Amino acid sequence: DISSVEALIDEQTAALVGIAGTTEFGQVDPIEELADIASEWGIHLHVDAAFGGFVLPFLDNGLKWDFSLPAVSSITIDPHKMGLATIPAGGLLFRNQDCMNALETETHYLTRAKQTSLTGTRSGASAAAAYAVMMHLGREGFREMVGYCMELTRHLVQGAREIGVEPLIEPVMNVVALQVPQPPKVRERLMDRDWHVSMTREPKRALRLILMTHMSHENIDLFLADLKEILADIN
Ligand SMILES: Cc1ncc(COP(=O)(O)O)c(C=O)c1O
Repeated sequence: DISSVEALIDEQTAALVGIAGTTEFGQVDPIEELADIASEWGIHLHVDAAFGGFVLPFLDNGLKWDFSLPAVSSITIDPHKMGLATIPAGGLLFRNQDCMNALETETHYLTRAKQTSLTGTRSGASAAAAYAVMMHLGREGFREMVGYCMELTRHLVQGAREIGVEPLIEPVMNVVALQVPQPPKVRERLMDRDWHVSMTREPKRALRLILMTHMSHENIDLFLADLKEILADIN
């Protein structure tokens, strides 16, 4: 609710953070409205697109959440999630050099007087892997991958509805929260059949599924058949 954000802001506010692709439900905050507030108050707007950053650009749903909004100053985007790269490749993008400069620490004892690195010496292997995946897939590859994941998402939602299970929200991205009675019990029963399913917590418990490229339509059909039996047994 954007009015509750407005009510919290005052001269002490250093930055606003919006999420483009929430962890549990895959929702996108109203970043355009946050951008208006950030412009009005002259404060930094960061967008956490850790999950959504490699999905939203390929959905063509008209949502604005990125540097096309002048107030957006930084974005997190995780290659190790929907970027299909290895853990722990993470990405922090800045609109301009000023933000990088603000991160600088003095390191006279090292070979360079200043560094903007967030941590010390570590392997660059995951960054190289992220780069390789991006070069390999290209924009078209990512578009195809996201298209497939969204197709799986629609297949799951449709199949769930056919067995009387509704999603908690209409999925925005490839994240589906299914409303079932007694979610922990259903989850346990699913586990007995080797389905390891996550669960949402706030504001409501639901089965949480992320549809990624390694899944198939057949996987979903098998999952729904088991879910149907488990629900019939529980009811
Ligand atoms: C929206 C969002 N932000 C941040 C994170 C944390 O990212 P990382 O795995 O790079 O620590 C996650 C992880 O699930 C996420 O979904």
